[in-house]
Amino acid sequence: MEILVIGNGLAGLSAAIEGAKRGAKVTLVSQNTADRSQSVMAEGGINAALNTKGENDSTVLHGEETLKSACGLASSDAVKQMTEAAPSIIKYLNQIGVVFSRDEQGNADVRAFGGQSKRRTVYAKSGIGRQLVAAMSQEVRKYTAQGFIQLKEHHRFVELILQPAYENASEDSHKLFSNQCGEKCIGAIVQDIHTGRYEAIVADSVVMATGGMNGLFGETTGSYLSDGMATATAFKQGVKLANLEMIQYHPTTMTRGEKRFLISEAARGEGGRLFVYRQKSKEQDAVSLEEKEKWYFMEEMYPERGNLMPRDIVSQTMYKVGKEHGQIYLDLTHIPRQILEIKLKEVCDTCRTFFDIEPSKEYIPVSPGVHYFMGGFYVDEGHRCSMAGLYAAGECASQYHGANRLGGNSTLGAIYGGMKAVESVIADFVDDIHAKKNRTEYAQKYLGRKFTVYDSKAISYGQNIVQNDIVRKLQRLMMNSMGILRNEEVLQESLNELDILNKKVEKTGYSELEKAHIEAFIGLAKATIKSALERKESRGAHIRTDYPNRNDEKYAKVLIAHCDKEGEVSVCAN
Ligand code: FUM
Repeated sequence: MEILVIGNGLAGLSAAIEGAKRGAKVTLVSQNTADRSQSVMAEGGINAALNTKGENDSTVLHGEETLKSACGLASSDAVKQMTEAAPSIIKYLNQIGVVFSRDEQGNADVRAFGGQSKRRTVYAKSGIGRQLVAAMSQEVRKYTAQGFIQLKEHHRFVELILQPAYENASEDSHKLFSNQCGEKCIGAIVQDIHTGRYEAIVADSVVMATGGMNGLFGETTGSYLSDGMATATAFKQGVKLANLEMIQYHPTTMTRGEKRFLISEAARGEGGRLFVYRQKSKEQDAVSLEEKEKWYFMEEMYPERGNLMPRDIVSQTMYKVGKEHGQIYLDLTHIPRQILEIKLKEVCDTCRTFFDIEPSKEYIPVSPGVHYFMGGFYVDEGHRCSMAGLYAAGECASQYHGANRLGGNSTLGAIYGGMKAVESVIADFVDDIHAKKNRTEYAQKYLGRKFTVYDSKAISYGQNIVQNDIVRKLQRLMMNSMGILRNEEVLQESLNELDILNKKVEKTGYSELEKAHIEAFIGLAKATIKSALERKESRGAHIRTDYPNRNDEKYAKVLIAHCDKEGEVSVCAN
């Protein structure tokens, strides 16, 4: 069987390896080599209840804490399966040579992370992503040499190839056309970003592993290359998305120009403390910093977990405290030098290299920033999308994290999700020679009808959607309305502005493909804002100042966005 995997971060690598292990023929498409994927930027670790220190941890507890943090919006069955698989995933990663930090007994060491009562985040200093990607790409290379995986690096996803049911008449294949629009995904159009050449790749199934939607905001801790264009395009083609309003603001980030740098939660896991300077008494007039007191507000407000509360709570508290008292700092100065230099190496490197801050002596000024998209492709527990033949895993899929993700669960969710998606692909496979021949012909005709073979203009543009003028305006609207706190008035205003932006696209000199991509992006932004408008309550990462309470009676459900053939975006509860 043939599987097309799009994206070579952790989810894509995992899906490709799983497909190869099960004897499938995998084509792995990516814009860059894996060492440039966003997964490389993961710092803190990967969660698994290993219970190697007699700390009474269990996969059940890991599941419960994941679900609690997700605030009722994650599937308990899916989460249970993921947390149960986590220890064996660490075992597998050990076998393929991931260089985890070790404890004295030689076991993979675990550190404390936000929202978790046990130390269960397995780490590699503060650079887990690089270690995971290095070992998993090595595995991919092995399967490439054995002929199971074909690598198509420097190719970008352009759009899905959807074949109408009636074009493919065999009896067997009919049962695959179960989605509402009567289409099946039979592959994708991709473009070589060096030569500009378009190509249609057909497959029995397509796994999207295209990452987050950083292009919606521009200034995030993520990679510009995980811009969300693949999600936007698939959405425009009729694939449903879910949980779009759930955007994670990581508590500790710093900006330099337009780039947000992550100061890993590992820093708080190793004892880092958030504080703000405040006046000693209400009567006191404004005084210099030296005369103010340091207020370690998280420790006072949340004595149970202090600085390691779930991220949504830390970020929201920082926002409120910061509004009243000003700049918030992260204090690492009391942490022993050896821990700073070894366990928090990458955190120290970021502070020193980009901010000229010496974390052993100086406080780090931090603020919450966009970090992770809990929403994305609407998938079932087997990672099946709403379109037959299409699957999604990793950050692009709305699975496991609900309204708020626990730190250390993204790397786990990506690796597990890639495996699970391929398990479903194989379970769903119907060997139908007629359909196979038919889809290849259909895809070639589709390519010929819609694309000239080469398009050099699209190449320079293709990698830089986030630098497009219209997209930049869209990002400002998103920053403005989809911040930590939201309300109807600002959301509605942004929605209206998006309509105006959409009309401007027509008048620009962009090519048809460029226009289509920008329109798709505007559609994604609309779906995100409409989801935030529709959720008239506060839950997890979504805080409405006009609806400050959680309303389980009406909103303990996932919101699903759909784009119809006319481009009309609607949002409804599942
Ligand atoms: O803070 C961090 O290291 C982030 C980890 C995560 O998002 O899982």
